[in-house]
Amino acid sequence: MLTKKLLFTTLLSGCTLVASAQASSDIKELDVQANKIGASVSSTMYGIFFEDINFAADGGLYAELVKNRSFEFPQHFMGWKTFGNVTLQKDGPFNRNPHYARLTYTGHRDKHTGLDNEGFFGIGLHKNAEYRFSVWARTAPNSSKSSIRVELINPASMAETQVLVSQKLDIVSGDWKKYEVVLKSPVDFAKAHLRIFLTSREGVDLEHVSLFPVDTWKGHKNGMRKDLAQALADLHPGVFRFPGGCIVEGTELKDRYQWKNTVGPTENRPLNSNRWEYTFTNRYYPDYFQSYGLGFFEYFQLAEEIGAAPLPILNVGLACEYQNAQDDKKAQVPLDSLDSYIQDALDLIEFANGGTDTKWGKLRADMGHPAPFNLKYLGIGNEQWGKIYVDRLAKFVTVLRKKHPEIQLVGSSGPSAGGKEFDYLWPEMRKLKVDLVDEHYYAPEKWFIGNAGRYDNYSRKGPKVFAGEYACHGANGKKWNHFEASLYEAAFMTGLERNADVVRMATYAPLFAHVEGWQWRPDLIWYDNTRSVRSCSYYVQQLYGMNKGTNVVPVKYENKNVIGQDGLYASAVWDKNNKEYIVKVVNIKSVPQTVKLNFNGLKGKGFTNGEVITYGSDKLLEDNTLDKPENIVPQTSTLQVSGKSLTKEIPAYTFVIYKLK
Ligand code: AHR
Repeated sequence: MLTKKLLFTTLLSGCTLVASAQASSDIKELDVQANKIGASVSSTMYGIFFEDINFAADGGLYAELVKNRSFEFPQHFMGWKTFGNVTLQKDGPFNRNPHYARLTYTGHRDKHTGLDNEGFFGIGLHKNAEYRFSVWARTAPNSSKSSIRVELINPASMAETQVLVSQKLDIVSGDWKKYEVVLKSPVDFAKAHLRIFLTSREGVDLEHVSLFPVDTWKGHKNGMRKDLAQALADLHPGVFRFPGGCIVEGTELKDRYQWKNTVGPTENRPLNSNRWEYTFTNRYYPDYFQSYGLGFFEYFQLAEEIGAAPLPILNVGLACEYQNAQDDKKAQVPLDSLDSYIQDALDLIEFANGGTDTKWGKLRADMGHPAPFNLKYLGIGNEQWGKIYVDRLAKFVTVLRKKHPEIQLVGSSGPSAGGKEFDYLWPEMRKLKVDLVDEHYYAPEKWFIGNAGRYDNYSRKGPKVFAGEYACHGANGKKWNHFEASLYEAAFMTGLERNADVVRMATYAPLFAHVEGWQWRPDLIWYDNTRSVRSCSYYVQQLYGMNKGTNVVPVKYENKNVIGQDGLYASAVWDKNNKEYIVKVVNIKSVPQTVKLNFNGLKGKGFTNGEVITYGSDKLLEDNTLDKPENIVPQTSTLQVSGKSLTKEIPAYTFVIYKLK
């Protein structure tokens, strides 16, 4: 042991040659118990958690390019510049968004009237891509025909090049109508503005001014940014949790997420505040609101399109417990007044699964999806704690069990992975017999490498685990994405996989961040207005999502689970569809280590071919960036293998997946 220690110290001092020599002579034997095909891995095992934080919805996944399109921000022209004669009116055609802009002739042909929208940190354009401008408009009172010019401009240019593309639009009726025109961008440009000029002497009223790329995810008109939705699909997620996060709760009850406000015609979905606008004063974005253009219909549809089970989370009758004292009655719906909250849950199930002859099922059909969305899971409450939560949850459980025994219910274990609230809540969740308990852990490196065995001794009776929010946050103030953190996430996740009989879902958080508008990091996917990048943590999630197999297979190192001995972590699964074993090994040490995988009890002659995926780097503090998106990405190669064992050197700081046929 002493010799090993001394050698290890030498290795750490940086002599790679010695390290390799040592590694190959010191073989770590991992026993894969190939004949013990165990518990099934849930199809929902690895998934995604979406919340409108970091400009993830408006300004992110939701492809709308106009900020404050309905003039409903508390400062009605926030995001807009007006020039000439523009006035705010408030008797528009959409009762929940009554404001609109009236553009009136100035009285002089050279004094222009119009509006200029700055988008979300600018408007991102791709060369030769088409953008659909749409607006609800009517001629101003006493006018019969008006016209506007719609332009995409470079606001920084003082030359003729300022106008990138321009289109004329006639407004031909005194009744409100939707008008559309398509503009093709001649350039790649991330910081454009939308400008609208009144070009007639007769005035015009404009409402719900919108600009979308024509090429959205799956071509949906009220659609999503294609590269970002594709990044989600490429994770192969099994479950999709939405819409948060703290925004489910609201700072005050009136701010809570109410799904019914997010469905139906987009023009009439009322604006809500976004608690991430003001939570961090050093990352303060007074122009960050929830337009709800991306709402529950769109979430369900996306879940279906990316093959993930939808998992909505609803408010339990409590505003955010971080932001309100436990005895603050204003932040709590009285126990005898929860009916409308519970009804929201029942109606949501009807919206997702009900027949088209039901009220909410019909709305789903009217929105374009007559078939049910096949909702199976429902979370009640986000990061709740204390008796105030349990008492309220109990009311939901009683009704939902009676009316919808087919729906699996998710309860909370509070904001941390341990401690007083956690210890109180788990037994309460057992008593309430919820199906899954949501655990959250944003924790430093030490926690992640020390907790791969966390679930090894969890009770197998009662609720299962949903690791609903987690991410390795670098210690010493380095709380952002870097390869080292993702490596430790990979190490920790071997423990999720080994315990897939009790851990049925896991979702990294948060998912998205705009580089110019983030409040919280690390995050899985970063973007600006025209580009996106997948972080190192993304690749770890993807590797698990694409290699989850169907059944757990035990792996032992000296008869014990591999949870960090010698810096090694391991788990294995059998994939009955592809007839292959998939073994994951993580080496968090600074030196290579030689590992021999023995497939004990394997029948027949053994393996004939295989594949190896390697994800490693010594650039521990680096991540992928918009400029270097492929800085650290996994490598796949074929694996020469025969017989019933495999001996391989695992490089330093590396996550390896062996797939053996
Ligand atoms: O993911 C960011 C936040 O972290 C979530 O909104 C909340 O649930 C947790 O505290």
